[in-house]
Order: sequence, then structure tokens, then C-alpha cells
Amino acid sequence: MKIMVTGGAGFIGSNFIRYMLDKYPDVEIVNFDKLTYAGNLENLSGLESDRRYKFCRGDISNSSDVTAMLANDKFDSVVNFAAESHVDRSIHLGVFEFINTNISGTQVLIDAVIRHNVPRFLQVSTDEVYGSLGPQGKFSERSPVQPNNPYAATKASADFLVRAASKSHGLNAVITRCSNNFGPYQFPEKLIPLMIANATEGKDLPVYGDGLHVRDWIYVADHCSAIDLVLRKAEPGSVYNIGSEYDVPNIEIVKTIIRLLGKSDSLIKYVKDRPGHDRRYAMDSAKIREDLGWKPEHSFEKGMAKTIEWYMNNRGWWENIRSGAYKTYYDNMYGKRLKDVGGLVR
Ligand code: NAD
Ligand code: DAU
Repeated sequence: MKIMVTGGAGFIGSNFIRYMLDKYPDVEIVNFDKLTYAGNLENLSGLESDRRYKFCRGDISNSSDVTAMLANDKFDSVVNFAAESHVDRSIHLGVFEFINTNISGTQVLIDAVIRHNVPRFLQVSTDEVYGSLGPQGKFSERSPVQPNNPYAATKASADFLVRAASKSHGLNAVITRCSNNFGPYQFPEKLIPLMIANATEGKDLPVYGDGLHVRDWIYVADHCSAIDLVLRKAEPGSVYNIGSEYDVPNIEIVKTIIRLLGKSDSLIKYVKDRPGHDRRYAMDSAKIREDLGWKPEHSFEKGMAKTIEWYMNNRGWWENIRSGAYKTYYDNMYGKRLKDVGGLVR
């Protein structure tokens, strides 16, 4: 089994690579990543000497980078994690990077996968494509796609392009839509690692609006096991929701972190709300449970305990990110080599 994983230096992609290498002795993985601000090779530390793993720096929206990869190696599948993933950035810093990577990049991959006859393509999508729920109900795979923020709109567009390629060109593609992940290696701009880092340092914990927005939280390893199953077992053209069905208001998450770290609620600061902030996400994941026999292995409590333990034992990892020091590491490690090989590190 040889897999090209795009975006494997990010949070979920790096967890997926570790998951697959642990589970399958004969798997080979090429991690194809642009190393944006969110891509961090420290997420893969320890794998450098694993002969089944290779890193290659490239941009999914650059057709030459992608072609160079697929023309040189024969893959059984491409799993696309690469994305601009942060909602706040898509609202406040501009949407063009999101359009470029999340939409154009996905189409570049689709075209290359078709051209090079890669047997399987998995698009990692999100529950955000469904928009926001009222007080009742859950998202199923049949819920309308109604994105409310620029990030979600680009992910929805990518889903439509994947669907269109499978209908028009016979692309063997599957789409997964997962809820909010948490766990090791999550970039500390997202709610849970931001709160852990700030609380540890005694800094304010910024809660948007009234703190009653609901997200459905899943431990990242359970997302990885679901992707593995969908990749191997799902019918071409199918879409699967993934969620652990633990949907709670943000303020409850923040208070849990405060309690587990032995800090005080006085750190909580209610701040101006995110514009267009989706009120509630909740996933119906009956389809993947019934069709493929998937279920999450981690309760929220177990996943959160492991997560806090990881952030406490790996303080240097998030302190380096928050100080910007991890970028210096890239320049030292890759600056010259990048110039040597015309953009690709092999
Ligand atoms: P992340 O921001 O941590 O990582 C994204 C990775 O993609 C980084 O390594 C980055 O360098 C890379 N990348 C960005 N642009 C690229 C490009 N043009 N070419 C190649 N690589 C590029 O994101 P994440 O949280 O790990 O999310 C991974 C995927 O899962 C995304 O597609 C996201 O939409 C989806 N998703 C995330 C969550 C979540 O809770 N984090 C939930 C559901 C779905
Ligand atoms: O639902 C899946 C999505 O989850 C993924 O598709 C996205 O890539 C991922 O970033 C995540 O999006 P969210 O916007 O839900 O995640 P974030 O961690 O940014 O915010 C979670 C909730 O917490 C949201 O309601 C906003 C709120 N929040 C967030 C931050 C960073 C705060 O109240 N304060 C904060 O400082």
C-alpha cells in the first residue's frame, strides 16, 4: 500500500501518517506538504529514519510539483489533507490563499490523479460545509451544503469538484466530513490548544460571544481510524460523516481545561464574537458506524486527558510555535536544499 498524503506536516495529517505507519508494517507514505505557517516537520520527528516514510515539499496548487510527484512514483491512493484550515484567518486575513489551496489545489490533484491513473482519491472535508444547526437535529450526509464562512465555502467547493470529477470522469473518489478534532500536534491558534497554552501561562482565555456555540469534538486518532476505513472500504463516490457525538458549548470545554490544569475561571475573558459564527454543529455518524463498523475508541474525557498530558510533556513544541522559533528551524533545515532541488525536497 503506497499512499501520497498531502498536508501531512499539519495536525491531522501528521497524526494520520503516524497512525498508518504504526498499524501497517508494509505501508509506504510520501508526505507532500508546502510547509505553510501551519505545517511543522517537528510533528513527524522520529520518522526520519523510517524507510517507509518520505517527505517531499510541494504545493498542491502547483501542477508541476504535483506532476513531478505522481510521475515519479506509483501510488495506490492520494489522501488530501492539505488546506488552509483556520476559519478566523479566512474571515480576517483574506480568502485568496484558501481559494488557491482548498479549491484550485484540490482540482490540480484531481486532474493529476486522473492523468496518472491513481486508483483512489480521498478528500478530507469537514462538517462546516453543512453550515449551522438550530437547537435540534444533527447533520447527516443528506443535509444541504450551506457554508457560512469563507473557509467552509472553499471546502464545500472542493467537495463539489470531487463529486463532479467522479460523475464526469469516473474518478474513484470518496469524501469524509469530520467534526472538530483535538489531540497532539494541533496548531495553537485553535480553541483547545490555545486554551491549554494560555491557561498554562496564566494568560486570558478569549471566549467568543456568549460561549454557547456548540461543537462536536472527536479525538484525532478516531478521525484517523475512520479515514483508514473509508479509504480501504467505502464505495466510490460515497460521502461519510465522522463524529463522536460529543457536542457541547465552548464554555464547557474551556472550563474543563481550566479544571484539569488546576487554574481559575477568572482567566476567562468574553470577547467580541466571530462574524457569521455558526451556532451549533452536531454529527449523525450512523452511516459509517453501520456500513463500515467504525466507532471512536476515545471518550472525550480520555482524549482530553491524553491531550493535556501531551501538551504538558511537549511544552517546547508549542512554545517554539508561539515564539516563531520553528520557522528558523525550517530555514536552517531546508532553505538551501530547497534552492538545490527546484522547490522539491526529496
Ligand atoms: P492544519 O492547518 O493543521 O494543516 C494543514 C497542512 O496543509 C499544513 O501542513 C500545511 O503546510 C499544508 N498545506 C497548506 N497549503 C498547502 C498547499 N497548497 N500544498 C501542500 N500543503 C499545504 O490543518 P488540519 O487541522 O490538520 O486539517 C487537515 C484537513 O482536515 C483540512 O483539509 C481540514 O479542512 C480538515 N478538517 C479539519 C478538522 C479540524 O478540526 N482540524 C476537522 C475536519 C476536517
Ligand atoms: O468543524 C470542523 C472544523 O473545526 C474544521 O473544518 C476547521 O479546520 C477547524 O479549524 C475547526 O473550526 P472551528 O472554527 O470550529 O475551530 P476553532 O478551534 O477555531 O474554534 C472552535 C470554537 O471555539 C468556535 O466556536 C470558535 C470558538 N473560539 C475559538 C478560538 C480560537 C473561541 O471562543 N475562542 C478562541 O480563541
